[in-house]
Amino acid sequence: MKLETKDLLTVDEISDKEFLELIDHSIKLKEENKTGKGKPLLENKTLAMLFEKPSTRTRVSFETGMLQLGGHTVNLSLNEMQHSRGESVADTAKTLSGYVDAIVARVYEHSFIEDLAKHSTVPVINGLSNSYHPCQTLADFMTIKEHKKKLKDLKIAWIGDGNNVCNSLIFGCSKTQTAIAIATPKGFEPDSEVVEKSSKHTSVDLTIDPESAVKDADIVMTDTFTSIHTSDLKQAEKFLPAFQVNDSLMEKAKNDAIFMHCLPAKREQEVTSSVIDGPQSVVWDEAENRLHSQKALLLSLLGI
Ligand code: CP
Ligand code: NVA
Repeated sequence: MKLETKDLLTVDEISDKEFLELIDHSIKLKEENKTGKGKPLLENKTLAMLFEKPSTRTRVSFETGMLQLGGHTVNLSLNEMQHSRGESVADTAKTLSGYVDAIVARVYEHSFIEDLAKHSTVPVINGLSNSYHPCQTLADFMTIKEHKKKLKDLKIAWIGDGNNVCNSLIFGCSKTQTAIAIATPKGFEPDSEVVEKSSKHTSVDLTIDPESAVKDADIVMTDTFTSIHTSDLKQAEKFLPAFQVNDSLMEKAKNDAIFMHCLPAKREQEVTSSVIDGPQSVVWDEAENRLHSQKALLLSLLGI
C-alpha cells in the first residue's frame, strides 16, 4: 500500500481506510517477525532520526525496525547539527533529502516538523512534538485490535492530561469510529480544533469527572502529568488524587477493560503499580507494537 500523504505529522492526514489497512498490516508484520518470515524490504534505504528530546521506545523501535527490514538509520541529535548554529530548517530538510529515504523527528514545536515536511522531498514522520504523537496512535490501535479483536463499538476513557498523545488518539478514534471520553482537570483539555473536527465522525466527550469517563469503557488510558515540554514541574499536583488510574477507578470500567499507557510512566502518580503491573495492563504489548506499526508505516510511506 502507498499512502496518499507524503508525511505523517498528526494521524489526521491518513484516510479511514488507510488507517485500518495500516493496523492490519502491522499485525501481519508482527506475525511474520515472530515466525522468522520477515523480508528485507527496505534494503539500501536509510532513515534519518532527528532527536531534540529524550526517547527510549521511539528511537529503539525505529532503529530496530529499519534493521529488521534490511535498511539503515542515521541517529542525529539536533543540538549536534548545524541547525544549532543557525542553519535553517528548510536548508536542513533539503540537504537530508539528498541523502536519506525518510526522516523521523522528535521535536518541541510542531511548526518545526511542519517546516521540515514542507521542505523535504522525502517522507517526514513525527516521532512526537509538543502537539501530536501519531506513531503512538498507530501502535495503540494495533494493540486494541489485538486484544479486543475489533475497533468498532468500543469506548476509550482517557484520564489525565489532554496532551500530544491524547490529540493524536482522538484523530485515531475519528478514523475508527471509536468513542472516547476524556477526563481532565479544567485547563488541561485536548486541542479544541482536534476535538471539534473529530466529533463529526465519532463521539468525543470532555468531562472533569474520571468516574463518568471510565463508565462502560473497554480501554482505560493515561499518560504522564508532566510531559517533556511541561515547564511547571509541580504540574502533577493539579491532577492528584482525582486523576490517578488506580484499582478503584479500574473497577468502574467494564470488567474486561484493558489498561494502556504510552510509557514512560511515573508510577504512583498517573497510575499505580497495581494497575500497570496488573492483569488488565497491556502496556508491554503496546510498547512492542511501536516496532511493528512503524515498520508498516515506513513501508506504506515509501510505497513498498
Ligand atoms: N512512548 C514513547 O514515545 O516513548 P519514548 O519517549 O521512550 O520514545
Ligand atoms: N506526553 C509525553 C509522551 C512521552 C512519550 C511527552 O510528551 O513527554
